[in-house]
Amino acid sequence: MSADQQQLLQTSLLAWYDVNARDLPWRQVRRVQGGPADPYKVWLSEIMLQQTTVATVIPYYTRFLEAWPRVVDLAAADQDRVLHQWQGLGYYARARNLLKCARAVVADYGGEFPDAEDELLKLPGIGAYTAGAIAAIAFQRPSTPVDGNIRRVIARLYRLAEPPPGLGATVTTHMSTLVPDDRPGDFIQALMDLGSGICTPKSPNCHACPWAADCMAQAAGDAETLPAKAPKKPKPTRMGVVFWAVDENGGILLRRRADKGLLGGMMEMPSTDWREKCWSIEEATAHAPIKADWTALPSHVSHTFTHFHLKLTVFTGRTQQSTDGIWSKPDELSDHALPTVMKKVARHVHTHIA
Ligand code: ADE
Repeated sequence: MSADQQQLLQTSLLAWYDVNARDLPWRQVRRVQGGPADPYKVWLSEIMLQQTTVATVIPYYTRFLEAWPRVVDLAAADQDRVLHQWQGLGYYARARNLLKCARAVVADYGGEFPDAEDELLKLPGIGAYTAGAIAAIAFQRPSTPVDGNIRRVIARLYRLAEPPPGLGATVTTHMSTLVPDDRPGDFIQALMDLGSGICTPKSPNCHACPWAADCMAQAAGDAETLPAKAPKKPKPTRMGVVFWAVDENGGILLRRRADKGLLGGMMEMPSTDWREKCWSIEEATAHAPIKADWTALPSHVSHTFTHFHLKLTVFTGRTQQSTDGIWSKPDELSDHALPTVMKKVARHVHTHIA
C-alpha cells in the first residue's frame, strides 16, 4: 500500500471518529477538560476492559473513581475493599495486580505513570496490548496495541487469511505502518469503535464503514469469514464438594483462598480440591473443614472458568463444634469478597433449604 493510500486511511478513519466516537467516561474527561487524557483513568479503564465488555465496565469504572480518584488513593487502599468492589468483573488476578501496579507507580515512579511502553510493560498486570493502549491513548505514542476488535478490522482490511496465533504478528506489522504520529490514541480508539459498532464479527455494516472502498475483504465479499478461528482446545470438567457449615448461631463458615492462583485472596465456603475424578461421599467428608452431620443437596452448581468447567456438589451440615474461622451471618455474605461461583453456591442452598 502506498504512503498516500495509508494517509487516506488515517484521515478517513479519524474524520469518522470525530463524528462517531462512543461517549465513554474515560474519554469524556478529555473532551470536557480539553487537556490530555489522565493516564490513571486510561490505565484503570484498560485493565477493567481486558476480557470484559464496555457496558459491564462503565459502572465499575465510575465506582472505582469515586472511591479512589487518584493512583495514590488506590495505592493506599485495602486489598479486601478493592476485591469487593471488583466482584462481578471476574479474573480476580487483575484486581490484585491492579493494586500492585498502583503501589508500584507510587513507590517507583513518584505517582506518575511512565510514558514509554517498555516501562509500562514492567508494571504488574500490564501486558503488550495494555502497554500499547496506554502509551497511545494517554501519551500520544504511535504504538500498535491489537485487541480482538482491532485484529478483526485489520484482518479484513488486508484480507489476512492466516488463523491465530500467527495472525497477531501479521496484524501488528500492518498496524505499525498504519498508526499515525498525529493522534495515535484517537486512531487506536477509532479502530476499537469501528470493530465494535460497524466491523462486527457477524453481519458487518460495510456500507457505514469509512474504509469500505479500501477493504480487501469487502471487495472479495468474504469479510464475515475473517479472521479465521483458532483451533479450539476442549475444556475439561472438574468436580468438587463444597461444605456449607452452619453453627448454632446460624453462621456460615468461610475461608480465604491462597493469594496466588485462581480466585486468589477471595473468600469462599471451604471445599475439596477441584479435580477431574468424581468424589465419593467418604472421600469428600474426609476433607470437611469441621465435624458436622453432612448431607448432600440434590443436583449441583455449575460454573465455567477460562480453562475448565466446574461442577460442585454442596454438602450442608450443622455443627456444635465451635472453631476459629470466619463465620458470616447468611444475610451478611454479600459483605465478603465472594466470587460468582460461591454466590451460586449460596443461591443453590437457599433454593433447596428455604
Ligand atoms: N476496549 C479496550 N479499550 C477500549 C477503549 N479505550 N475504548 C473502547 N473500548 C475499549
